[in-house]
Amino acid sequence: MQLFRASIAHFPTQTSNFEKDIVIFKDGGLLVDNKHIVDIGEFSQLSSRYPAVEVVDFSGKWILPGLIDSHLHYPQTQSIAHYGEQLLSWLENYTFPTEMQFADEAHANTIAGIFLNQLLKNGTTTGLVFTTVHKESCNALFSAASQLDMAMIAGKVCMDRNCPSPLQDTAQSAQQDCANLIKTWHNKGRNRYALTPRFAPTSTPEQLAALGELAQQYKDVFIQTHLSENLDEIAWVKQLFPNAAGYLDVYDQFNLVRERAVFGHGIHLNEDEWARLGESNASIAFCPTSNLFLGSGLFDMASAKANDVHVALATDVGAGTTFNMFKTYGDAYKVSQLRHAPICPLEGFYLMTQGAAKAHALDHEIGNLNAGTVADFIVVEPRFDELTALRIDQNAEFDDVFFALSILGDDRAIAQTWVSGRCSYKKPV
Ligand code: GUN
Ligand code: ZN
Repeated sequence: MQLFRASIAHFPTQTSNFEKDIVIFKDGGLLVDNKHIVDIGEFSQLSSRYPAVEVVDFSGKWILPGLIDSHLHYPQTQSIAHYGEQLLSWLENYTFPTEMQFADEAHANTIAGIFLNQLLKNGTTTGLVFTTVHKESCNALFSAASQLDMAMIAGKVCMDRNCPSPLQDTAQSAQQDCANLIKTWHNKGRNRYALTPRFAPTSTPEQLAALGELAQQYKDVFIQTHLSENLDEIAWVKQLFPNAAGYLDVYDQFNLVRERAVFGHGIHLNEDEWARLGESNASIAFCPTSNLFLGSGLFDMASAKANDVHVALATDVGAGTTFNMFKTYGDAYKVSQLRHAPICPLEGFYLMTQGAAKAHALDHEIGNLNAGTVADFIVVEPRFDELTALRIDQNAEFDDVFFALSILGDDRAIAQTWVSGRCSYKKPV
C-alpha cells in the first residue's frame, strides 16, 4: 500500500452543480493498494488511520483522476496538423491515405505504441478510440493497451462504400469481424469494444443494419461514430438516406442510438435530434480543437443542457490539434465565449473526468477517486515554467490552477500518470 500526499480534486458524484459538488483536499491523502483506491481524505486523517503505510509526498502538486478522451483516432496520430481542408476533402486527401498503411500489422503496432505514449504524457488514461477498417489495427491497439492495463474502448472502423476500395469491408465481413473482436477483447482485462461505423456516408443501410443487430445482441458494447459535423456532410447524408427524418434518424433506424452510443461532434442538430439524444441516454463528444481546425462550427452546449444530453470532451486527433485534454477545454472555453455562454473551469474538468465516466456508465471504475475505483490518476505540476510560476499562485484555488493550465499549459504540467496503481509515465527531469 502507498499513501500519496498532494492537493487533490475530484467529483465523486454526477452533478450539474459544479461549485457545490467538487471535493477538494488542499493537503490530501490518497491510499492505493495494488490496482485500487482504498481511501481518500485529509492527509492528517489518513496518516493517523494508516500509520505504517509508506508515504509518497507530492506536496505542492495536484492529484486528479486520470483524464478521459471520449473520441479520437489512433491511426491519425501521424496525420495530425495538415493544412487547409474542411471535413470531406480532408478525409480524401489526408485521412484515407494514412489509414491505408494500417493493413501492415507492424506499422499498426508501431503507431499504437506512439499513440499510447502521447496519451500518457498528457495525462489521459482512457480513450474512446477509432482504429481503421483492418481488424489487425484493432488488435494492435488493444494488445498495447493491455500491456499497460489501461481502460481502453475501441473498435474496428466499418465502411463499405464511398471510400477507397482498400479501405472497404462489407456488411457481412464487418459483422463477422466485429463479433470476433467482441469475443476476443470486450470485457477482457480493462478493454471494451465499440462498434464503429465511421459515419453514415461510408456505410450502406445493410452494414448499419448488421451493426445494429450486434448492438442489440451485446447491450453493454459501446457504439461510436460521427454525427452532424459539417454542412456538406449533412447534405450528403440527406441524399444517401432520403427516407430518414434527419442525420440522427439514420442511426436510430438501425438501433444505434442508445446508452453507450457516443456521437462525435453534433454541431448542427435540430430540436428533435437534441430531444431524441436526451431521451435515449446517448452522448455527444464535444471536440473543440477539431471543430475549429476543420472549420466545422461552434458546439451548442446550451441545447445539450436544455435536453439533458450527456456531453464529454474529446480531442478528435488527428482533426483535433492536441492530445492534451486541458488545452482541449481551453478551446471549448473559447468556443463557448463565441456563443456568449462560457463553460466554467470546474465544468471543463468534469467533462473530462466524472462527467465523461457517467456518460459512458463507467464511473464505478474511472473518472473519480472514490474508494473502490481503479487507481488511474495524474500528478499535476502547475508551476512548471517561468510563466506558469509567475501566473499561478502557490496557494491558488483549484479552478484557477485548472483554468490557467488549460490556456497556458501542455504536457509539461503532467508530472506523472498512474494507471491501475502503476506509474506508467514520469516526466523527464
Ligand atoms: N467523419 C468521418 N470520419 C471522420 C474522421 O476521421 N474525423 C472527423 N473529424 N470526422 C469524420
Ligand atoms: Zn472523429
